[in-house]
Amino acid sequence: MKLRPFKPCVLQQGLVYQFSSVARIINNKSAGAGYQEVATPTAQLLCLKSNILPFGNCLLERKSVSAIMKQVSPLSIAQITDIHLFTDDNQKLLGLPTTQSFQAVIERLLSLQPQPDLLLLTGDLSQDGTPESYERLQDLLIPLEMPTYWLSGNHDCISAMQQVLNRAPISPRKAFTQGGWNFLLIDSSVPGCVHGNLSLETLDWLDFRLRLMSDSFGSNSVPHPTVVALHHPPFRVNSHWLDTSKLQNPEVFFAVLDRYPQVKLVLFGHIHQEFNRQRNGVHYLGSPSTSVQFEPQSSSFSLSHEKPGLRLLKLYPDGSWETRIERVAYSHKLDLAATGY
Ligand SMILES: [Fe+2]
Repeated sequence: MKLRPFKPCVLQQGLVYQFSSVARIINNKSAGAGYQEVATPTAQLLCLKSNILPFGNCLLERKSVSAIMKQVSPLSIAQITDIHLFTDDNQKLLGLPTTQSFQAVIERLLSLQPQPDLLLLTGDLSQDGTPESYERLQDLLIPLEMPTYWLSGNHDCISAMQQVLNRAPISPRKAFTQGGWNFLLIDSSVPGCVHGNLSLETLDWLDFRLRLMSDSFGSNSVPHPTVVALHHPPFRVNSHWLDTSKLQNPEVFFAVLDRYPQVKLVLFGHIHQEFNRQRNGVHYLGSPSTSVQFEPQSSSFSLSHEKPGLRLLKLYPDGSWETRIERVAYSHKLDLAATGY
């Protein structure tokens, strides 16, 4: 049976190996004595027959190890959304040069210590949908040297994205695991439309992936906590003009998620503002754009003077998480008379 190392920074002295759905800690002195295999690859859930766990050079009570691991081993991710880049850097969206505001967000990301472990781009990455705009995006992301995953929004061109956004560290993968969390990225865009919709094919894929993740862990254990990301909000945000373009079939989306309690977070863009709603144990988080911001609770199209921003998240192996919005100091004169975009 093939063994592969589990995140080695978790325990300093022992090495943790994972195979199939079973995790085992192999101590420097002996493999097995006092230990038992557990049906989870999450080191936090490794258990001894006693209530003591090894941590570094120490033996600590199980609850202490859990507390320490919560401090030292979250997966740090950044969500960037609605960049609306053009082929030409000088082009503006509602008066705002989107390349410049995006560069300000990148500079903020570069200043963070430690750097996020990965970057999620949740759609409307381009305003004109050209291959050149995605090549520009690729160039602008180079300084981050960060594993980056993306999905498409209503302004994007999926074929151009697939053609360009596929070179490391940018990955076209839509299902991956990192830091003890699963990530599933789904396409809610509808060609030629502003609103979102999940196709039967997408819903089947989501259900299949979540079921696969559950089955691989067996019936006696808990699968990895999971993030699902898409572009369109599955909820109204109390802005009539925006709510007409939300996800049109949220009920079928919820019906899938309701079958899999490992789903903890749903991340989305499109609304160019912060949003947080809880449903059935899942938190649904909307994030500011790196370009223009929309005025919350506005019945008609209205821009806000809020600054461009991004969302940062820390994801812990036990399924808990923390998040905050970061905004940058960038500002530019906006076309406030605009009635749409
Ligand atoms: Fe957008």
